Amino acid sequence: MGINHIKLEEVESTQTWLKENVSKYLEDNLLVSTKIQNNGIGRLGNKWDQLGKSIAFSFSLEPLDTVTLTPLELGVHIVNFFKKVDVEIKLKWPNDLLVFSEGELKKVGGILCHFQDNKLLVGIGLNLDDKALPQNSGFKFEPGSIQTSLLNAGDFYHQVPKDIYEYILENRIPEEKLTELWNLNCAHINQKVKIADDSNSSEGLFVGIGSNGEAILNTNGKTKSLVSGSLWILD
Ligand code: BTN
Repeated sequence: MGINHIKLEEVESTQTWLKENVSKYLEDNLLVSTKIQNNGIGRLGNKWDQLGKSIAFSFSLEPLDTVTLTPLELGVHIVNFFKKVDVEIKLKWPNDLLVFSEGELKKVGGILCHFQDNKLLVGIGLNLDDKALPQNSGFKFEPGSIQTSLLNAGDFYHQVPKDIYEYILENRIPEEKLTELWNLNCAHINQKVKIADDSNSSEGLFVGIGSNGEAILNTNGKTKSLVSGSLWILD
């Protein structure tokens, strides 16, 4: 499968680079990866810091018919990709990538999606090594890393993004299988959670995702669907 792979030494944000340049390459499977990302963007207007040996890359993708399910499909792909190298990744709604380490769940990466020119522009950041992770970081979710042999590839900043993108392009998941697969790999299925944004906050049992990728909570026997926000796992 042909990929047009742009390899950068340093960029402010691969996601911004992709947004500004994708219209020149609309026919291509376009991937941009970088060794250094110095002004990364996270979800909901947050910053994304490059910690230790991490990869930062963005690519274009045909969305699923139900566009809002596509970001959740990407989470399942990351889980399946790292299963092949014996790393277990768990998913936190909507787009966080976690590992269970030293008795707690830690955030090892995140997925960001923008819809533009009928394409989904996907940005993924993943910490591969824990040498430079801050302790008691003050981040919303404690950062962790995927300890992986993939780091041994000399050019891993570019090689791992290419391997992941190829894997995604070759293994697209049909919509009808997606909710079940996502729920199977969810870190907080049937657990009490809080989902909040600037104006609303809801608590309840996380039942799973619905057919559009929305979070379904059960609160005192009543079902509620939420389409956006940040999720906290409550004890
Ligand atoms: C999140 O908030 O969890 C999503 C983080 C996504 C970060 C990646 S790193 C590559 C791409 N470029 C960016 O500026 N952000 C995304």
